[in-house]
Amino acid sequence: CAPSPTPPFFMDEAQQPPLAEMDGPDHYTVTAAVHYTHRFASSWPPVKTLAYSTANASTDYSGPEIVTREGHPVDVKIVNALPPAGTPIFPFGQPNNDNPANLHHHGGLQPAPSDGVPAPLGVELPPGDSYTNHYPNDQAAAPLFYHTHTDKLTGYQAYPGLVGFSPHTDERERHFGLPSGEFSKEYELQDKSFAPATKQLCYTNFGDLPVINGTIAPKQQVEPRRYLFTLLNSSANRFYHLSLRQVGGHRGNHHGLPPRMTVVASDDGYLHHPAQVDDLLIAPGERYRVVIDFTGHHTQQWVLANDAPAPYPGPNTAPRIPQLMRFDIGTDVTSPDHSRIPGTLDETNNREPLSAKLREARLRTVQAGVGDVPGAPQLGDKDRLLNYEDPPTETPQLNSWEVWAIRNHGANAHPIHLHLLEMQLVGRWHVGQWDDNGKPVPSSIGPFEPAPAYESGPKDVFIAPPDYITAWVGKFTVPGTAVWHCHILPHEDGTTTNGKIEMMRPLVIGSEPQ
Ligand code: C2O
Ligand code: CU
Repeated sequence: CAPSPTPPFFMDEAQQPPLAEMDGPDHYTVTAAVHYTHRFASSWPPVKTLAYSTANASTDYSGPEIVTREGHPVDVKIVNALPPAGTPIFPFGQPNNDNPANLHHHGGLQPAPSDGVPAPLGVELPPGDSYTNHYPNDQAAAPLFYHTHTDKLTGYQAYPGLVGFSPHTDERERHFGLPSGEFSKEYELQDKSFAPATKQLCYTNFGDLPVINGTIAPKQQVEPRRYLFTLLNSSANRFYHLSLRQVGGHRGNHHGLPPRMTVVASDDGYLHHPAQVDDLLIAPGERYRVVIDFTGHHTQQWVLANDAPAPYPGPNTAPRIPQLMRFDIGTDVTSPDHSRIPGTLDETNNREPLSAKLREARLRTVQAGVGDVPGAPQLGDKDRLLNYEDPPTETPQLNSWEVWAIRNHGANAHPIHLHLLEMQLVGRWHVGQWDDNGKPVPSSIGPFEPAPAYESGPKDVFIAPPDYITAWVGKFTVPGTAVWHCHILPHEDGTTTNGKIEMMRPLVIGSEPQ
């Protein structure tokens, strides 16, 4: 991909996804198809994309928002309306043109056959076929999402659009008093590249333009009040280290401080205690809900800025994306702001204190690194790096607690995702030296670094930085066969090896302990 043509930044207003409606009692039909009408900038021609649509909401990029409620099970039928197998959709160099479809409800605790796992462990539909997933929705409120999860093809299908929001809600959440309605917004943070002449999508590891909900570098008109923002990093590869930077507008009031940012929720639910932050690191697959308080910032403009190198944490070989979108703060509020940030948001699926979880857990060591093929990262158990088709080595017992300690002996940070459970980050240890077998030299292991507050809530994706041991703990409550993998899409797809080495492993829950 050549450098993308650049439309004017902050021209178009950020869009919110339409709300999916049921097409039968507790039933949604979600259709994956090719579209030709989406404009990433209003001054650009429409280009080819993929999208999920429902009966009432035909989107031409991404998908409608599917809201689920605790205690209200639903069936979601996925229909594959992609072109027949053998028809190339995009010139992205994908390993095959079988055009399968499926739907993974990321963070949902659904039965394994409804989880949307890549083949051969899960069901992938050929074009023209359909399949119904069942979601019990027996879990606490959380910023979940959904996306395609086809073997070796996830990035090739998610990048052109097959990703959408699926906020899971419950009764308790309503009483928190957080900003809601039009003062609650969702943003998919993505980077993309476009062909210079046609402006068609071009798939690379790192795009050179920010795309928020399908719009390049949008602006968002806001009032000088509190907002709740759900941030989803659905980029293929890029990490964002976010902060707010003032640009134009009237400067100098409110002591020059940026609007206050408070993390209230992460991947799988609310934090016990909201965590105020100045900046926020978000990796592919991660979600955070933040309250940004624009009170007192009337008539100012603040850019959502990013200073993360790509790849992360370095070396910075890809184009940087220093600005994602701009908030234009109006002069006044249209109604009084009665929202609040409570001191405690006491809600998670598993409420035990960390110490109690650790007491019950057995330790499992897994690793990430680069094996015999340079540039092709792999996952494995404590002894070796393995591929997706190798026999399962992570086979936890049903209803058991485990601590997973992942040793990352590679050059890049990997956001590691486990299906079918909610977990909690324990913390990390720096490793100064690795032996010839890629094991940490014990005397070189640094002091324990506990999880920062914002990263201590319910999660299903964990950043495993290079030269670190990263540990998380969780209880395996859903039986069946799913996967654990890196959420960098070219890593899970094995893009550099045409799918031969995938950063993806089976996760078999409910077998005998090993
Ligand atoms: Cu969002 Cu297995 O992935
Ligand atoms: Cu990775």
